Amino acid sequence: MASLASLSLYFTLNLIFLLLPVMPSLAFSLKNCTILYQKNTCADVSLDCSNMKFVTIPDYIPKNTVSIQLGDNLLLNIIRKDFHDMSNLKNLNFTLNQIAYVEQGSFINLPLLETLYMGRNKLTNLTNNMFKGLSNLTVLVLSYNNIQYIHKSAFWSLTNLQTLEIAGIKLKQVAEILPILQLPQLLRLSLKHNRFTTFETKDLPLNLSMSLKELEISGSDLKMLSITTPVFPHLQSIDLSYINTRLNWNFSDKSLQKSVTQLHINSLAFSFEGFQNVLKSFGRLRHLSFESVDDWITMGLLSVVCKTPTLRGLIISQSHFANFTIELASCVQLRELNLEDNFMSELSKGSMQSMKQLRFLNLGYNLFTEFPHDIRNLSSLEILKMHYNDISGLSCDDFSNTTHLKELYLNMNSITQLQRCITEKIVNLKVLDVSGNLLKVFGDTFKISLQKLESLDISHNPIKYLDTDVFQHLKSLKELKVETHLFVDVPYFSGLEDLENLTIYFHTERTFKNLQSNDDKAFSNIKTMKHLTLIGSSDNDWIPFYTIKEMLRASGNVGAFTIQNIYINYYDVDTFELNPLLKSLTLSLTDLSDLNCELFLSFPNLQNLDLSKSKLRSLDFLVQANLSALRYLKLTDNEISVISETVFQSLPSLRFLDLDNNPFSCECSNTGFIHWIVTNSQTQVVKAYQYKCFFPESKRGNLLLDFDIQSCRDNGSFLCFISSTCLVVLTLLISFIYNFLRLHLSYTFHLFLAFLYDSRKRKKGHPHWFDAFVSYNAKDEDWVYREMLPVLEGEQGWRLCLHHRDFQPGKPIIENINDAIYGSRKTICVISRSYLQSEWCSREIQMASFHLFDEQKDVLILLFLEEIPPHHLSPYYRMRKLVKKRTYLSWPEAVQHPGVFWQNVQRALQTGDALTENTDPLTGLTGC
Ligand SMILES: *[C@@H]1O[C@H](CO)[C@@H](O)[C@H](O)[C@H]1NC(C)=O
Ligand SMILES: *[C@@H]1O[C@H](CO)[C@@H](O)[C@H](O)[C@H]1NC(C)=O
Ligand SMILES: *[C@@H]1O[C@H](CO)[C@@H](O)[C@H](O)[C@H]1NC(C)=O
Ligand SMILES: *[C@@H]1O[C@H](CO)[C@@H](O)[C@H](O)[C@H]1NC(C)=O
Ligand SMILES: *[C@@H]1O[C@H](CO)[C@@H](O)[C@H](O)[C@H]1NC(C)=O
Ligand SMILES: *[C@@H]1O[C@H](CO)[C@@H](O)[C@H](O)[C@H]1NC(C)=O
Repeated sequence: MASLASLSLYFTLNLIFLLLPVMPSLAFSLKNCTILYQKNTCADVSLDCSNMKFVTIPDYIPKNTVSIQLGDNLLLNIIRKDFHDMSNLKNLNFTLNQIAYVEQGSFINLPLLETLYMGRNKLTNLTNNMFKGLSNLTVLVLSYNNIQYIHKSAFWSLTNLQTLEIAGIKLKQVAEILPILQLPQLLRLSLKHNRFTTFETKDLPLNLSMSLKELEISGSDLKMLSITTPVFPHLQSIDLSYINTRLNWNFSDKSLQKSVTQLHINSLAFSFEGFQNVLKSFGRLRHLSFESVDDWITMGLLSVVCKTPTLRGLIISQSHFANFTIELASCVQLRELNLEDNFMSELSKGSMQSMKQLRFLNLGYNLFTEFPHDIRNLSSLEILKMHYNDISGLSCDDFSNTTHLKELYLNMNSITQLQRCITEKIVNLKVLDVSGNLLKVFGDTFKISLQKLESLDISHNPIKYLDTDVFQHLKSLKELKVETHLFVDVPYFSGLEDLENLTIYFHTERTFKNLQSNDDKAFSNIKTMKHLTLIGSSDNDWIPFYTIKEMLRASGNVGAFTIQNIYINYYDVDTFELNPLLKSLTLSLTDLSDLNCELFLSFPNLQNLDLSKSKLRSLDFLVQANLSALRYLKLTDNEISVISETVFQSLPSLRFLDLDNNPFSCECSNTGFIHWIVTNSQTQVVKAYQYKCFFPESKRGNLLLDFDIQSCRDNGSFLCFISSTCLVVLTLLISFIYNFLRLHLSYTFHLFLAFLYDSRKRKKGHPHWFDAFVSYNAKDEDWVYREMLPVLEGEQGWRLCLHHRDFQPGKPIIENINDAIYGSRKTICVISRSYLQSEWCSREIQMASFHLFDEQKDVLILLFLEEIPPHHLSPYYRMRKLVKKRTYLSWPEAVQHPGVFWQNVQRALQTGDALTENTDPLTGLTGC
């Protein structure tokens, strides 16, 4: 009756499908533009239409768009109707197009526009009131066009413009940029790479007075730069760092003396004497920066610069410094000193010790092999950067007086030890980065001290051992990056009650063996964790699914979980506990080809899911997964070719789906999916209009959405109808047979597998790697690790094979089990109720018993963990048969005398393989 009903329902559905017209509407999947995903539903719409070969601006841009990226296209012009009804626009980016013409009034309906990027186009004329309407514009970039003419009213509407970048302008006379200089609110102006031969303010109207604060100017023809009239009374910063020819200059305007505080200088623009005179023109310089000034340094640049009493910040880079650091000694007034990237290998003693007010020091990217002696005297220092040097050791005195240090970056050096005497001195430290060094132990480095530390990175060090309570005193820690071989068996993270971000780098497959047993305790006290990240370093890194599950369970409050570049081993998937708080999950750069839907059953509030680059072949796991809150799903770079549209019925909240770079099949099997992309009005399928066919061969390279789904409905429909009807009947039949004969079928199948395997192994003459393979259920793991391992491995010295620990990653489970059984002399079954119920375990038993009967070997040792009355064994036909015939070892009976129990196990393990007359084939014990 039921099957008849479902058949008729099927016919009806088929009929409806045949009659439905294809809806051409474009709902959410914009052709070649992407609506950027926003967590907040009511947030403003931002579009990415960059790099799409657009020649004109697409006409399907939603009216409420606030931000559009149109860079790197082939746009030729902008006309009035392009943006006539997009009055919400705030940001527009046309960088890197071919725009030569902008129709007058094109921007007139954009009163809210704030930023407009038009660099690297083909504009030649800035025409009459070209930017009319843009009264709220604050940033305008017109660099690298061919601008030869600026109409005097070109910028009239830009009453709020603050930043104008117009590098590479083709004008030759400063008077020609008068429309720029008349912008009333302009604060920053870049005139890099211009064609002026002279830039002299005397050529400008006398009454001109700008609000400008920062001026950048350079040009290969520029011979004369003179500011002699009060055009820039507020100018604070002059950037001449791009000037590469010798410059005549005159900064005699008196207002500059008071206003200018920052200079960026290139030594090609001035002679050294000339530069010294420039310094004298400005009375209040606070910040100076130089690049490539080797010559000047040998001439005494440092002592000259240090004579500027107002100087607070000094930057020198890409210069050879080695022999002149002592000249820094007179720079006692400095607050910030940046000497990054200067080939420095040492700092003469006394060079910096006088800088009592220095707060920021950057010596990164140099060649230091020792920690500079003077740093210990910098008692005001708050931030020290020594990254990317070659420092091998730190001594206790190196930080003796730097008690105000808040941030310390020692990453990428060769430091082998970080002693407690060092961390004790820097009690105010908030950020410590010692990643990428040669640290092997931490010992008591973090004990007592560093109570204020908020961020610690000790990743990428060859750490062999860590004290169990190594982090426990870091009470303020919010962010921690470590590597996994640190996990042994004690809760490392238990003291870290404020931890928010934990990143764990995996190193080798070995690491997980340590991680498995106690990871739950490791996280259980952290109530504040927001993001947990596991990152593998090579293809060999793997983690059992079980461990991930435990981590998620233990860190119950975590909001985002990321796993990258780690192979996940699924053989022991069982039910997952609910993790209601998890909002974001990333499993990327891994192998999810046999992903089980159960993984996702327990995330009712998951909103973001990223499974990119993970060898996924099908999305069917989503149908049963209960992801009703999922909004964002990223599945790029997988191996998905056919998608059933029913998948999306189980994702009612989905807004954003990215399937880029999958090998789609352009066949009738994808009809429903294609139809859904085009018609659904809720989910944006990102870049759907560029998805390409991969199958069949003949259609490879065609666009997926060009596939004619109508043809599947017309020509093929009858055939399709007939064949699918047959399929339905067949399915019904098979499920009927399966239902009634299931047990026998599956048993025969596994027996057959085992037989095949067995005869193969026998030919090879398999060696034994282990004394015993222990088969147990995950729920009994505690007992196995607590009771069994210490005795059998520890005291008795057997080599045991445990699936959680010793299975090879990447191998099919069934093969792993076979290898384990045949690679071990014996198989110990730890039998409990959960064991009997577990499917895998019963297969293990079946295979082992096959081995037993077939080869006349006694391999099986049965340990009963709990009392199980014989009638409870009845569903487990083979087990009952075994137990009836053989004796077994019972833990509940032995609790009083565990010693005797383990002795019996030992004897069972000692017996040889051959079945003898008087030994019991199950336990190896004669009677019992
Ligand atoms: C989308 O972009 C692709 C490749 O850039 C192009 O071939 C196609 O014609 C574009 N489609 C639309 C509708 O603009
Ligand atoms: C503008 O577009 C260009 C080219 O696509 C891109 O490189 C740049 O980052 C964009 N700028 C902004 C501020 O979005
Ligand atoms: C500039 O934008 C603000 C809102 O950000 C708006 O209130 C104001 O009217 C705009 N200015 C003009 C001249 O349109
Ligand atoms: C640009 O302006 C110049 C000078 O006013 C004019 O001769 C030329 O025709 C204009 N070019 C364009 C493309 O509008
Ligand atoms: C620094 O001085 C030493 C000897 O005092 C000399 O050998 C070396 O070449 C000098 N280095 C530079 C970059 O001038
Ligand atoms: C450390 O600072 C104190 C007080 O500022 C000063 O007396 C002492 O000499 C300094 N020690 C060193 C090694 O500079």
